[in-house]
Amino acid sequence: MEESVQELLRAARRAIVEARRDVKALEQIRVRYLGRKGELTQLFKQLAGASENDRPRFGKLLNEAKLQLESGIAAALGQAKKQEHSGKEQFDVTVPGRSPVRGHLHPITQTALEISRIFNWLGFETVEGPEVELDYYNFEALNIPRDHPARDMQDTFYVSEDVVLRTHTSPLQIRTMEKRRPPIRIIAPGKAYRCDSDVTHTPMFHQVEGLMVGENISFGDLKGILTIFVHQMFGPDVGLRFRPSFFPFTEPSAEVDIQCVMCAGRGCRVCSDTGWLEILGSGMVDPEVYKMVGYDPEEVTGFAFGMGIERIAMLKFGIDDLRLFFENDLRFLRQF
Ligand code: FA5
Ligand code: MG
Repeated sequence: MEESVQELLRAARRAIVEARRDVKALEQIRVRYLGRKGELTQLFKQLAGASENDRPRFGKLLNEAKLQLESGIAAALGQAKKQEHSGKEQFDVTVPGRSPVRGHLHPITQTALEISRIFNWLGFETVEGPEVELDYYNFEALNIPRDHPARDMQDTFYVSEDVVLRTHTSPLQIRTMEKRRPPIRIIAPGKAYRCDSDVTHTPMFHQVEGLMVGENISFGDLKGILTIFVHQMFGPDVGLRFRPSFFPFTEPSAEVDIQCVMCAGRGCRVCSDTGWLEILGSGMVDPEVYKMVGYDPEEVTGFAFGMGIERIAMLKFGIDDLRLFFENDLRFLRQF
């Protein structure tokens, strides 16, 4: 008898595990062991035939087995029903989905692409060059010899005596003219580095260089192209002005200011109450530069410009501290 009960319990437990929380299969197991003709019920019937001595012991054994089976099946059924219920919830197609967080381009990249798009549309091809640059391309060939006071205008990171982190994208003027003959119409976006840090300056920043060289290119072309650019970028109502300036590699030179987009020219903190903001430097390419690349200054003319991308992004998005662009605070970046 003892063995029969143990054997029955083992088989029943295995059956419960194999039923894998299937409600129907568990009901069947209950019937098979505990039903009116069930296997355990049959063993109870054998009690009558047992000796006076054995009967109490066997009775206890069978009752315990019955309790075990009943509670085992009940527990499995409880879990099966819970699972069935939660399974239904998982497939509730009316619950709104959680949309994944989508990334996007950094506002500086967005601005650089927008600038490139406008100039590409005007027929300018995009080129690139190294950020670790020879002193020759960054200064010398741009008519800024060693010991020239103009070097003080840019606080340079020197890698070695002849190698610098480029302080502007103007080396691309030289690199392009060395490789190609006029007509040339290129822009060169990229990073530049200066030992500089305040609300409008960071040690690493971005510029877009522009260069157009050919026959009979005049200051009027420079004004026309840059005016079209400003109107495409900031809208046709924004005022702009060309202000005389100096660069060793252009003559004459001009800086371009646009009317402050924060205060519409009335004067505010961002424009230091002047109503105007500088966005780029430009000028007619200096004859000395043509000589450095083997062009004849009597035959070709052209203009160049260099704009700060951060400065344009600040105006485009209304940001009053340039350093925000590089802190990578997601609360800031998610706004673009
Ligand atoms: C130049 O870098 C000249 N290479 C521009 C040029 C090119 C003139 C071709 C003539 C012909 P400048 O140092 O002014 O010029 O810098 C140009 C622009 O870069 C500035 O107007 C400003 O918007 C941006 N810039 C300069 N330094 C920083 C800095 N530390 N952080 C952010 N932007 C800067
Ligand atoms: Mg300047």
